[in-house]
Amino acid sequence: MPGQPFPSSDRDGRPLPSPGVKVAPDAPGMNRTWLAPLSALLLLLTLPAASLRGADPDSKPLVLAPEVFAPEKLGLVLTAPLKFPRYYMGSRRNDLPLKPLLQRGALLFRTSSILGGGMKALGISCEYCHPGGSTNSKLNIPGLTSKPGSADITHHFWNPDNEDGQFSPSDILSLRGVRYTSPYGRDGREASLRAHTRMAIVTLDGPEPDPADVDALTAYIRSFEFLPNPYLDRFGGLTAKASSAALRGEEIFRKPMLGMGGYSCATCHPPLSHFTDNRHHDVYSGRMLDTPTLLGALNTGPYYHDGRFESLGQVVLAYDAVFHLGLTDQERGDLTEYLEAVGYEEDPFGSPAGED
Ligand code: HEC
Ligand code: HEC
Repeated sequence: MPGQPFPSSDRDGRPLPSPGVKVAPDAPGMNRTWLAPLSALLLLLTLPAASLRGADPDSKPLVLAPEVFAPEKLGLVLTAPLKFPRYYMGSRRNDLPLKPLLQRGALLFRTSSILGGGMKALGISCEYCHPGGSTNSKLNIPGLTSKPGSADITHHFWNPDNEDGQFSPSDILSLRGVRYTSPYGRDGREASLRAHTRMAIVTLDGPEPDPADVDALTAYIRSFEFLPNPYLDRFGGLTAKASSAALRGEEIFRKPMLGMGGYSCATCHPPLSHFTDNRHHDVYSGRMLDTPTLLGALNTGPYYHDGRFESLGQVVLAYDAVFHLGLTDQERGDLTEYLEAVGYEEDPFGSPAGED
């Protein structure tokens, strides 16, 4: 059993408030009601600070303009320290003044005050599952997680109205570069980021949010940029820094293949367009799904909507088998090395440039 019942300090060693959850042993209600209190209890046991992967992604404290707002005045309780976005709107500088709208968004991203009572009790905010805008790939809530990094968000644990009667954990998506990756949700159910942001709040049992809050949160999320990648040029082509295996893999990636009906990997994951065609396809993984970007993929495993594959190599094996691509061992290795080069992020959880 894990040692600490709840992180007593955040990743910077600052003390966190105790969540003070009471677990009702026999709450009345739906089938599987036992799961919710049990999960809540287990969540407490599995929540050590280390459950957020790696070091703090955005280590520069964000200074709020007190004349604009202060969390206490707004009645917001923060679950994580306010930080400057890791890398935002194409800028590596972390001393730029953040617009008031983004400041408010940064605050809302780190508060459970706009969510339901359960989230408040457990101190869950957007930042909890999307640390630094990325993916909490260690998230593990027994009964709600199939593999670390996934959560059944249509379980009544989050919101009784959203129970779909199935155990259907979804692999958490990174929000880096999210403004390029519409539509939203694994199945692309929302065309607009704003609509998805509102939905995330309501799914996490929050009351209908103030439209101004949805605007601020959406603006903040929209500011998350893909991290720099020295292996890619601005057209999505490999640079001279890439290995020769990755260069061979790039050719395979761009080659139309009979097994895929004349498509290439690049048809659905176009390098020039952040490696997503922003459409739905069925790649025999269960249903029609939104094509995910491949940028940053090294840090967002496991893969596919349900996290069925542990590594990019396994994804390549699966494509080869399902679409009868007839790749040789060497070609699969090259394609994997290419995906690893594309999925690389510079210093994803380190301190912002100029700080170290
Ligand atoms: C319990 C973990 C969890 C929390 C907390 C959480 N999310 Fe998510 N988020 C997910 C998962 C899982 C997905 C992918 C599943 C899906 O949407 O189909 C996702 C997907 C998203 C997406 C879609 C990204 C894309 O490219 O399609 C957005 C936007 C998003 N979340 C925003 C938020 C916001 C805003 C909050 C806070 C109000 C939040 N999330 C809180 C787990 C979480
Ligand atoms: C017809 C469109 C299409 C083609 C062609 C295609 N993909 Fe995909 N790709 C998708 C979709 C849709 C998913 C999401 C599947 C899921 O979530 O279950 C995906 C998922 C992936 C993932 C997992 C990303 C993640 O974060 O989970 C990788 C890696 C990938 N594809 C690589 C490739 C490679 C390599 C090829 C060529 C062999 C290829 N794709 C061809 C549409 C396509």
